[in-house]
Amino acid sequence: MRTHTDPQQAGEHSVVTTWRARLSSRGVAFDGPALPDPLDLTPALDAAQARIPYDYQQAKADHPVVAAWVAKIAEAAVAADRGRRGRREITHGPSLLLWGPTGTGKTHQAYGAIRALTAAGCGVHWRSAFMSDLFAEMRPRPGIDPEWMLRHYMRAPLLLLDDLGAPKASEWNEELTVRLLNHRAENRLPTIVTTNLPPVRTTGLDPRQEVLRDKIGDRALSRLSGMCVQAQLDGPDRRYLRA
Ligand SMILES: Nc1ncnc2c1ncn2[C@@H]1O[C@H](COP(=O)(O)OP(=O)(O)O)[C@@H](O)[C@H]1O
Ligand SMILES: [Mg+2]
Repeated sequence: MRTHTDPQQAGEHSVVTTWRARLSSRGVAFDGPALPDPLDLTPALDAAQARIPYDYQQAKADHPVVAAWVAKIAEAAVAADRGRRGRREITHGPSLLLWGPTGTGKTHQAYGAIRALTAAGCGVHWRSAFMSDLFAEMRPRPGIDPEWMLRHYMRAPLLLLDDLGAPKASEWNEELTVRLLNHRAENRLPTIVTTNLPPVRTTGLDPRQEVLRDKIGDRALSRLSGMCVQAQLDGPDRRYLRA
């Protein structure tokens, strides 16, 4: 049996510790576990895991910029909670742009970040969209309301936009991308964006190399630049290495 003189239990949440101290100051021994442990992460991690594509289910966010971004978002979630409910929900914060050639681990880092946030005890209501699928899914057709769908992506507390700039450019794609990014930028909703393209043309870049600005347009790129910290991933294509 635990008594009020017990130290904090291993892995016990601070809310439980606080209540234990309050009760003991009134001479009442708290013989838990009467309070649910809000940091019992297994169900949350399992639920997140089940939605992650098989290839990325063990992904680790080990890139230093990605790890720092995860820490910042987790910190903001804890600060917003202020210990009221013992529940850390992702709130506002910077977004993350991962760019580099194909196969360098951008999607791996993105899912690694989602897993790390879940493991840090954050309520991660996330959605992901492979950009080609997103545009295909939203193509106006009978029985489909693209506005309704767009709003779901716009408002997701955490959103992964995978392979931005890969689908063929069109006015419709561009408008949708601007609206999505604009809403997320204005509301500082954390968004992870991956792209195979360098964001802008820099000196020394091969003139045949396309850049993101050419594919998604100035307005979308401007929102992206304002809202994101960036990490450039480099190296060989890991898919070939694995094969
Ligand atoms: N740090 C890593 N450790 C182990 N496997 C990795 C790592 N980064 C990427 N991979 C694997 O390499 C392959 C390519 O990575 P991926 O993230 O899909 O690349 P990109 O999104 O940049 O095209 C995937 O199968 C992925 O699981
Ligand atoms: Mg990818």
